[in-house]
Amino acid sequence: MAERGWQTFDPSTMPGQALYQLMNSVVVPRPIAWISTVSADHVPNLAPHSYFTVLSPEPPIICFSSGGVKDTLRNLRHTGDFVVNVVPEELAREMNLTSADFPPGESEFAASGLTPTASDKVQAPRLLESPVNLECVVERELTIGNRPNYVVFGQVVAVHVAERVMRDGRVDVSEIRPVGRLAGSGYVYSREFFTMERPTYAGLKAEWESRKGAP
Ligand SMILES: Cc1cc2nc3c(=O)[nH]c(=O)nc-3n(C[C@H](O)[C@H](O)[C@H](O)COP(=O)(O)O)c2cc1C
Repeated sequence: MAERGWQTFDPSTMPGQALYQLMNSVVVPRPIAWISTVSADHVPNLAPHSYFTVLSPEPPIICFSSGGVKDTLRNLRHTGDFVVNVVPEELAREMNLTSADFPPGESEFAASGLTPTASDKVQAPRLLESPVNLECVVERELTIGNRPNYVVFGQVVAVHVAERVMRDGRVDVSEIRPVGRLAGSGYVYSREFFTMERPTYAGLKAEWESRKGAP
């Protein structure tokens, strides 16, 4: 029974499109993997994927999910690799343009005026205009869900970072200003940043004790 003030959805009785919208609205904001690949006919391909995350730092493994078989999936199955490019806010429009249903023989790079450049360790090109490129080798692929969705795991074999987004030897996220995906056509800019040191239980306990002892 639903609690007052709450609406509870039962995924097992919901139509697919409504479920898709619900999940896209609540798992937010999502980072966008702007994935470049190359086809068997040597056509460079570029497409955004926001069902994307990092899973393991050592070795670095990322994953993304393709809803059905698209050019990106076809290409990486052929070459065994792909590149994840980060989307800074000044490239938001170009990123959106590359999500159109281009035919396989037509490159989103050319259509959006973006530059594919050679990667070091993989066949897929990297996107020159993006400040961060992750060269990935396909580690495994899983099929999940009814659509079905194909989840591709990639081991990151090279990381390229533009010096303009580095400060004191570290990547400065406030210089990348990555675009995040919300529901539908919604996006979010990364513009306000704040920090919080992660507490330890011992530190918290000491703080609580000292407060108890305070007059
Ligand atoms: C911001 C954004 C995020 C997207 N995320 C995904 C995703 O996670 N998985 C997916 O299959 N399609 C996603 N899409 C749709 C694909 O980009 C779109 O189907 C594209 O045409 C696929 O291109 P391709 O056939 O060249 O691979 C997304 C689109 C946008 C604009």
